[in-house]
Order: sequence, then structure tokens, then C-alpha cells
Amino acid sequence: MQHSRFYRRFNLFLERHLPEGLFPRALIILVAPMVLLQTIMTGLILDRHSDNVTRILARSFARDISLLVQLYEESDKTAAAVARIEQLANTRLALGLTIQRNGVLPEPLPQPWFSFVDTRLTRYLTVETGKPFWIDSQGNEGFVDIRVEVEKGTVFRLLTRENRARATSTVLLLLLMLLSSVLLLGIATVFLRKQIRPIADLAAAAKSFGTGRDIGDFRPRGAREVRQAGEAFLDMRDRIAKQVEQRTAMLAGVSHDLRTILTRFRLELAFLGDGPKVTPLKEDVEEMQRMLEAYMAFVKGDGGEKASEVELLSLVQAAARTVERGERKIAIDLPQGRMLRVKPNAFRRLVINLLGNAVRHAKNVWVSGVVGDRLLTLSVDDDGPGIPADKRADAFRPFVRLDDARNLDETGTGLGLAIALDIARAHGGDLRLEDSPRGGLRAVVQIPV
Ligand SMILES: Nc1ncnc2c1ncn2[C@@H]1O[C@H](COP(=O)(O)OP(=O)(O)OP(=O)(O)O)[C@@H](O)[C@H]1O
Ligand SMILES: [Mg+2]
Repeated sequence: MQHSRFYRRFNLFLERHLPEGLFPRALIILVAPMVLLQTIMTGLILDRHSDNVTRILARSFARDISLLVQLYEESDKTAAAVARIEQLANTRLALGLTIQRNGVLPEPLPQPWFSFVDTRLTRYLTVETGKPFWIDSQGNEGFVDIRVEVEKGTVFRLLTRENRARATSTVLLLLLMLLSSVLLLGIATVFLRKQIRPIADLAAAAKSFGTGRDIGDFRPRGAREVRQAGEAFLDMRDRIAKQVEQRTAMLAGVSHDLRTILTRFRLELAFLGDGPKVTPLKEDVEEMQRMLEAYMAFVKGDGGEKASEVELLSLVQAAARTVERGERKIAIDLPQGRMLRVKPNAFRRLVINLLGNAVRHAKNVWVSGVVGDRLLTLSVDDDGPGIPADKRADAFRPFVRLDDARNLDETGTGLGLAIALDIARAHGGDLRLEDSPRGGLRAVVQIPV
């Protein structure tokens, strides 16, 4: 229990703080452990390396000192001999030696908390010289101060550069690590980009297919799983296309047959002229014709229509003219010259259905819209009776009409909103019904553009 909560928290933390894209995520997953590993390795190597080098240096340093001590002891200890030894130590060995004839060792310093130089040197000096000595590795920056009491009264003072006694050149290693990290990052970037592009392509293709656009020359490629997803997507697209095709073909057949009969009907009715018995018959036939067309529009969907560029304002104006039939009651407030990529006939049908409903139920109708850089929002407002919130879902269902009681004279199939919703969704968008600030119903279409 505790465990899973911690795990969930951790996941949540990752979700919140990891970058959004697959590419940076993959990069982090790939590179972070590598860099961590490399840092640890470098640290270890650095540690071992400096430890080794310090040991070797300290030992040879201690041997140099013991050599000098021996030279001194074997000499006749005159001033000339001392000078000779000092000169040898300082020119040949760069030890910074002064031989003090009346020196004593200072009080021992407290051991520094952590120092390679001191521990190593102490050990080797003890082993190699066997004389009392004094070390200060902190007092002079970059130097180690060593004093060895060679015999009573004679002290060798060595003020030697630190790098003579310990490893200091770690810059190269660090540089190497940095360089290899950068190289690693470069390789990972190039490689990952190659892996992720096919996924992005697939996402783009699926999106344009979802919004009814052409998927371009999409080809599945990349890693096996990505390729499989791409192929599955193409199969799915083909199946959908085939279904639409079959449905459309069947419908074309049925509608053709029915239309032929309807046309015959109308012809025969025309021969009968007008009369109290004939006129209702004619109206019925007209009604049948309209209904047939509505059913067809519904079942056909967008009929696999291709998207193309249309001008929003003129499309809506044309739709309004169709609906108004002379009397003007639709006010249009839309930007001019705004081009949209939609399925033109389907989109026109959508607008006509919404305007038709509004005109049928209200005196005044307002169309307004905003086209952002990603979304078209089109609203149709009216001042009619509206639809109560709990009936709105029903209004979308095919063949459902809510106003039998109010509009007995009106004819309708109850398909208008169902078709409109279908079309909005076929464009990857949606259709909502709301309360209008004008008092009636507001229908809002949102479509990605
Ligand atoms: N603007 C509106 N104001 C009030 N009621 C509406 C409005 N639009 C639709 N409705 C109600 O929603 C129901 C369903 O509308 P829909 O457009 O789907 O069918 P219809 O208009 O009855 O028939 P069709 O559109 O197929 O001719 C309508 O019967 C009507 O009662
Ligand atoms: Mg309608």
C-alpha cells in the first residue's frame, strides 16, 4: 500500500516535471544514466589515479630526501660540502633545500583532517630516512614544507612544490569526460531524432485522416513497432474507405430507384392538374422527396468528400440565402476573406441545418464566429423558445423531433442535428447546444483548422 502510493507519487512527479515531447524524454532516459555512470566511473578512476600517483611521487620524493641525507652523512660536512649538496638538491632535484646548521624541529602541527600528501609522505619519510621530521602541507599554497633533523643541530628544510609530491593533473581526465559526454549526447540526439520522426509522421497522418484531410504520402517506417502501427493505421483507413464506398454505392442504388418512382408520380400528378384532391398529394410527394434527400445525406455521411479551401463568410451567406427564402432575418458577423480547409458540401450542409432550425423556431437569428490559429468557433444564436438543457442530448438523436406539439404543421425528419453533429465530428470537431444570450438556442460548432 505504502509502496504503491510512493510509486504513484513518483510517477506523478515524473509526469509533471518531465518534458512533454517523446524526443526530450527519450533523450533523458538514454543519456541520464550514461552520464551518471560516466561521472561515477570518472570519479572512481580519478580517485584511484591520484592515489596511485601520489603514492609513487611521495615515495620517490622521500627517496630523494634520503639520498641527500646519506650524501650529507658521507661528506666531510664542511661548508663547501653543504653548499654542494644544497646546489645538487636545488638544481638537479628541484627540492628547495636549505641546510640549517643550528636548527631545531618546530612543534608538530595538528594533523590536517584529510590529506594524502601528509599520510603518504609521513609513511615513506619514516621508512626511507629513519630520521625525525616535521611536515606542513597547508601553510604555503602550492608548496610542502618538510624539515628533517639529520643530526642534532642540523636540519634540512625542503620547501618543495606540491606537484613534486602529489598528483595534481586531473584536468585532462575531466576534459575527456566532458568531451565524451558531449559526443554521447550528439550521437543520441541524431539517433533519437531518426526514431521519433516516424511516430510524429504517423500522428500527423492519423490527425489529418481524422479531420477528413488527405494523409499525403504517408509511408510506415522506422522501428518495427512503429511500422506495425503505421500499417495498422493504413489498413484501418482502407477498411473505413471501403465501408463508406459500399454504403454510398448501396444508397446511390436505392435513391436512384426511389427517385425514378417519385419522378413518375410527379409526372402523373402534373397531368391531373390542380384540385382539392390533387394538391395535398403533390405536397406529400414533395415532402417525400425532401425526406429522401435528408435520409440520403445522413447515411451517406460526407461520402468521402475531399477537403478544400473555402471562404467562410461567403459560404455562410450562401447558406443563409438558401434558408431565408426572401425574408431577411439572419444577421451575419464573420471576418471577411478567411479561408478554411473543410469538406465544402458537408460543411455547407452543417450550416444550413443549424440555420434552418433557427429560422424555423425563431424570428431573429445571429451567426458569429472566431477563427483562431487552430480552431474555428461558429455560433448560431436565435431568440426562439430554445431547448431545455435536459432535452438537448435527445435533440441530437436521429429521427427525434421535440416540437411535434408546437409545430404540427411543420415537417421534418429529426435528422438535422444528427447530421450536423456527424459532420462536425468528421472534421475532427464538435457541436454543442447552449442557452443563447439572445433568449433562444445557441448552437456552437468547433472545428480545428
Ligand atoms: N433553434 C431551435 N430552437 C428550438 N428548438 C430547436 C431548435 N433547433 C432544433 N430544435 C429542436 O430539436 C429537434 C431536432 O432538430 P433536428 O434539426 O435534428 O430535426 P428537425 O429540425 O425536427 O428535422 P430536420 O432538421 O431533419 O428537418 C427539433 O425537432 C426541434 O424540436
Ligand atoms: Mg432541423
